[in-house]
Amino acid sequence: MEITILGIESSCDDTSAAVVRGTTLLSNVIANQDVHRKWGGVVPELASRAHQQNIVPVVDKALKDADVSLDDIDAVAFTRGPGLLGSLLVGSSFAKGLTLAKNIPMIECNHLLGHIMVHFLNEKDRELPHPSFPFLCLLVSGGHTQIVWVRDYFDMEIVGQTIDDAAGEAFDKCAKVMGLPYPGGPVIDKLAAEGNPKAFKFAKPSVPDYDYSFSGLKTSFLYFLRDRVAEDPDFVEKNKGDLCASLQHTIIEILLAKLIKAAKALNIKDIALAGGVSANSGLRKALAEEGEERQWNVFLPPFKFTTDNAAMIAVSGYFKYLKNDFADIDIAPVSRVAELW
Ligand code: KG4
Ligand code: ZN
Repeated sequence: MEITILGIESSCDDTSAAVVRGTTLLSNVIANQDVHRKWGGVVPELASRAHQQNIVPVVDKALKDADVSLDDIDAVAFTRGPGLLGSLLVGSSFAKGLTLAKNIPMIECNHLLGHIMVHFLNEKDRELPHPSFPFLCLLVSGGHTQIVWVRDYFDMEIVGQTIDDAAGEAFDKCAKVMGLPYPGGPVIDKLAAEGNPKAFKFAKPSVPDYDYSFSGLKTSFLYFLRDRVAEDPDFVEKNKGDLCASLQHTIIEILLAKLIKAAKALNIKDIALAGGVSANSGLRKALAEEGEERQWNVFLPPFKFTTDNAAMIAVSGYFKYLKNDFADIDIAPVSRVAELW
């Protein structure tokens, strides 16, 4: 029988557990934490407490949904980092307790690598399309924005990344300025559908090579609104659709320009998208169009695998299991990680 892995993800504000058998996903349970909404962002201490409350029922449901028992699990994979330390501690401690009790191995996983690995998952009733090596992955989330050159499952190189804010952060911070709820990315995505993407122009960064910068865009957006609101206090309300569409359009143009540059230089035709911002409908559409024009094979993750989930950790764990790459019991979570290891 194929190897069965329980994956646990608790790096930020989603508590998730998933079961894979080989690369086939049997279950994927995600408990979102609404407690942060009223604070306009994730409050680390509240996140750890909510993980603590959620972890047992979430793992329990993942096992039930997969129709397996703990005795069927060959190893437990967990997110070691990057992320919020208190959040990571809940998942890693739980994995330690469970693997010790069941006398099975434990596997540490990198959260960012996990986002990329969703491209190797399959569903119970169907195989999903997988990119071929080498491919480029545009990894866009709330904490990271990177172009990753994926040469093999565990041979990856970050060829470009943001020097300041992440793309998701740009969405979330600009949403906050407009008085929209957190997280702002999905709200802007929705409102953008009713607006004109060319209505307003915002500053685009000038950074070398394949790196990104989003803090200038955020400032340009903030000053633009400040000046317009001084003339008309209802400016945001009257122009919400156009503001969201123009902002989203600018973020997408910035993201794609560097991706195109890297794909050309490395002569790569398989291009994948991953991370929370890969749920953005404008970005998905723009990348698909770009791919058609440039004869790329474009891989867009199913929506349920875009934001944080444990399926990505479970499948990473499966490939690590095949390499006998297990973690020691004294392993500690890490909030920052320079490599994709
Ligand atoms: O990958 P993720 O769930 O968590 C991190 O690892 O950061 O990404 C969360 C980010 C947030 O910034 C959120 O606003 C953004 O993904 N996001 C979106 C959309 N859905 C989620 N951004 C733009 N459009 C969306 N539809
Ligand atoms: Zn993430």
